[in-house]
Parts: sequence; structure tokens; C-alpha cells
Amino acid sequence: MNDPTPLDRLSAELDAEMTRVNALIRERMASRHAPRIPEVTAHLVEAGGKRLRPMLTLAAAKALGYQGEDHIRLAATVEFLHTATLLHDDVVDESSKRRGRPTANLLWDNKSSVLVGDYLFARSFQLMTETGSLRVLDILADASAVIAEGEVLQLTAAQDLSTSEATYLQVVRGKTAALFAAAAEVGGVIAGGSEAQVDALRTYGDALGIAFQIVDDLLDYGGSAAVIGKEVGDDFRERKLTLPVIKAVARASDEERAFWSRVIEAGDQRGGDLQHAIALLARHGAMEAARADALDWAGQARDALGALPDTPLRRMLADLSGFVVERIA
Ligand code: IPE
Ligand code: IPE
Ligand code: MG
Ligand code: MG
Repeated sequence: MNDPTPLDRLSAELDAEMTRVNALIRERMASRHAPRIPEVTAHLVEAGGKRLRPMLTLAAAKALGYQGEDHIRLAATVEFLHTATLLHDDVVDESSKRRGRPTANLLWDNKSSVLVGDYLFARSFQLMTETGSLRVLDILADASAVIAEGEVLQLTAAQDLSTSEATYLQVVRGKTAALFAAAAEVGGVIAGGSEAQVDALRTYGDALGIAFQIVDDLLDYGGSAAVIGKEVGDDFRERKLTLPVIKAVARASDEERAFWSRVIEAGDQRGGDLQHAIALLARHGAMEAARADALDWAGQARDALGALPDTPLRRMLADLSGFVVERIA
């Protein structure tokens, strides 16, 4: 057996709560009226997933000594939001594999994925209202809008070779970090944390989410489909300007630029092009440079935790920030 990772240690620490979160997810993902809903949700939910975001909510609340029950509801809410975005994202990205299984859009169709995604969004709002906290509602409603904005911004930035690192950051902050930030923040809010602590949790989630998405984008070129549970090369096929590509384009020779222009701008992709793109990323150290940026964000996440009481959970959250950069899945 390998040593437990920081994610394993956090999962073990939160095991009792996560069992309750998973039970609540299973209870609320069903629908008596439309059998397609439990079919699709069970397919995705039973495949697992890392459950990172709900663990952030639980850990944030517990790190501040929370004794109530609402963190369970909020953790389930956050995973519902995440699951809804995955259903929609796989339609938009025309992806065929998720969590090691065929995507719902492949197994059923786009219509089912979009509509069941909408259903999960609505269910998440029902769940969050049960906490009775308008502040929590405000945070999660904002995050939902920002996630959608991030995905739409990505849509219009795709295929555009002049996309800057600043625009990339804006996309990633929206589509991914907004939910990480909200997940951590609502944990702090429900626990009655001070404004400084709630701010710290939000900053932690934002920076962690950015690091996490940069690494997701690295794995889309350098990972293994068997390990990440998704196809490698989806971002290239979708002509997305992710951070390693932006860095390689910035350092491209004229001939390399013509290649990027053909495959990304014109969308004329042929056999061997993905391998050539990977070789160009390597030639210019673009993967290492993007990883260094991810490490920097992970460091910012860790630093933000200084505002929290020094507990074992705080140390686990700190270790998690380094782990998201080293992860291979
Ligand atoms: C996938 O997130 C979507 C991204 C933001 C990259 P995760 O990698 O956390 O997905 P699961 O829940 O573990 O499958
Ligand atoms: C994250 O972006 C999407 C969401 C926020 C739902 P990606 O498109 O890179 O995520 P994966 O790689 O499909 O999981
Ligand atoms: Mg995708
Ligand atoms: Mg991805």
C-alpha cells in the first residue's frame, strides 16, 4: 500500500460526515416523476468522484469548531452544483468519458444531460434554503452565476490564439475556483466564523481552485486516461487556450505558430497533431511553467489559512493545497 495522500487523510478525518452527505445526495437526487433523472444521476454519482468540494465545506466548518448539522446540507448542495456543472460541461465539451465511465451525453443524449443538470441545480437551491441562511444563499447563488459566466467566457475565448493569461485566469476563476471558494466560505459562515476567517477561507478556496484547474489542464495533455477517468486531449480537440498552450504559443517560432493557427484557429486537426502539440509544450517548458504557476497559487492558498485556528484540520487543508499540484488524477 502506498502512503495515504493528504486527500486520503482528509477523507478519513471527515468519513462520518461524508457518509451522511452521500446519503443525503442519494436521497435528493431521485425523482418519483421522471425515471430518467435517477438513472442519469446514479450513473454519475455512483461513479464516485473525489468529493473535494463538499469536503472543503465540512473541513471549513469543523476547523472553526462547528457543532450543528447544516454543514452536511451545504456539502451536499455544493456537490449537487458541481454535478450539475459536470453534466452541462460534458455536453459543451462533447466529452465521452467522465469518472471512468461513458458520459451521460454519450450514454443517453445531450437533452437528458442538460435537463438533468438543470434539475440538480434546482435541487441544490432547495437544499441550501433549508439552512435558513440568506448569506449562504447569497454566496452560492453568486457562485452559480459566476460558474456559468466562466464557461461562457471560455466558449468565446476558445479558438482565439491571442487569448492572454489574464483571460485564462478569469475563465478558471469563474468556472472552477468560484465553487471552491464558495464551498469553503459557506463552511466558515455556517460555523459563525469571524469576517477575517470567512475571508481567509474564501481566499483559500479561490487559490486552491485555480491551482486545481491549472493541473486539470496539464493532465489533459500529460495525464493518463485510465488514471484521470477522462479522455486525454479533450481540450486540444475543443481548441481551448489553456495555460500550457498560451505559454507555448507565446514562445512559438513562425513555423510553430502556423501549426497552432491551423489546429486551434482553423480547427484543421489531423492524426499526430496532438502528439506534436505535446512535443511543442515540452520544447518550450510550457508544462513546467504552468505547474510553477499552480504551485504559486497553492502557496497562496496555504498562506491564507494563517487566519484560522491551528488545528489538525487546518494542517490537512494546508497539505491539500500542495497535493492538488502533485496529483495525477
Ligand atoms: C472536474 O472536477 C471539473 C474540474 C473543475 C476540472 P473534479 O476533478 O473535482 O471531478 P470529480 O468530482 O473528482 O469527478
Ligand atoms: C471545468 O473545466 C468545468 C467545470 C467547471 C464544470 P473542464 O472542462 O476542464 O473540466 P473537465 O476536464 O471536463 O473535468
Ligand atoms: Mg470539460
Ligand atoms: Mg479539463
